[in-house]
Amino acid sequence: MKHFRSIHDVADLPALLASAAAYKADPFRHETLGKGKRLGLMFLNPSTRTRLSTQVAARNLGMEVLVLNAGTEGWALEFNDEVIMNGNTVEHVREAAAVLGAYVDMLGVRTFPALLSREEDYSERVLQQFVEHSGVPILSLESATLHPLQSLADLLTMEEQFKAPRKPKVVLTWAPHIKALPHCVANSFAQWVNAWDAADFVIAHPEGYELDPAFVQQASVEHDQDKALCDADFIYVKNWSSTAQYGKHVCEDPSWMLTPEKLLPTRQAKVMHCLPVRRNLELSAAILDGPQSIVIEQAANRVWAAQAVLAEILKGLA
Ligand code: CP
Repeated sequence: MKHFRSIHDVADLPALLASAAAYKADPFRHETLGKGKRLGLMFLNPSTRTRLSTQVAARNLGMEVLVLNAGTEGWALEFNDEVIMNGNTVEHVREAAAVLGAYVDMLGVRTFPALLSREEDYSERVLQQFVEHSGVPILSLESATLHPLQSLADLLTMEEQFKAPRKPKVVLTWAPHIKALPHCVANSFAQWVNAWDAADFVIAHPEGYELDPAFVQQASVEHDQDKALCDADFIYVKNWSSTAQYGKHVCEDPSWMLTPEKLLPTRQAKVMHCLPVRRNLELSAAILDGPQSIVIEQAANRVWAAQAVLAEILKGLA
């Protein structure tokens, strides 16, 4: 694996999932694989889980880790070419990425979308500029439109939680929020579940919140949440901002919040969320504190997903 930006960088998804499960069973099985290699983690936006799980994963492989909180501690970056830098930006990504690439063997980058222009966000210009100018493998720690490390952990979680000899029904449901949030987790979850090809997959959301057909693919789309949840084995709760009015926060409909009553017609569905979650806004506290929530197991699995991906990139460096 050269870079890790989306499912398209994964040659063999079942093998990557098996690798993550093997690291979970034996975290130090390749504790010298990354000896002498340095991972840089650059955060243009906040993170708890991705930041820490990726560090743990790298150290399990014997790597050294450098963290740069570029959004708060680094120089303000410029991403436009042909620009006269007489505004607030201090350093162009062309220099910044090249310098970081001189210090590390691979570089993780977290960046969020501006949610001002769909075309701009979906071009993934920021992440791609690190690919072009750093000279080292780039690991997405969540980009403008995708969150592949989260999605790999999500699939690992569902694989280990579901043992019935049939396909699980997986429902990705939109949830209310007070802010306009990125599409990344929803897009990426849809992309990876479709590639997994091991579930009956339904996406439920209010009208105007359609995900890109490139990610929806063969999933069924429902605007009636109760209908979508019927017989569900897994329910993935996530807010994303409007598509029809791109990046806008136009719906707060509280009836879309998942509550214990909505779980009754499911097959005792396990409830997932990438976290952080706003209690009693996106998801009821009664569910989060109850036996059907697997959000902590899901977050814990972020380590093994990151370790499997880092190991694949390391093998490419050898
Ligand atoms: N789910 C997730 O990526 O969490 P962080 O934003 O805390 O990294």
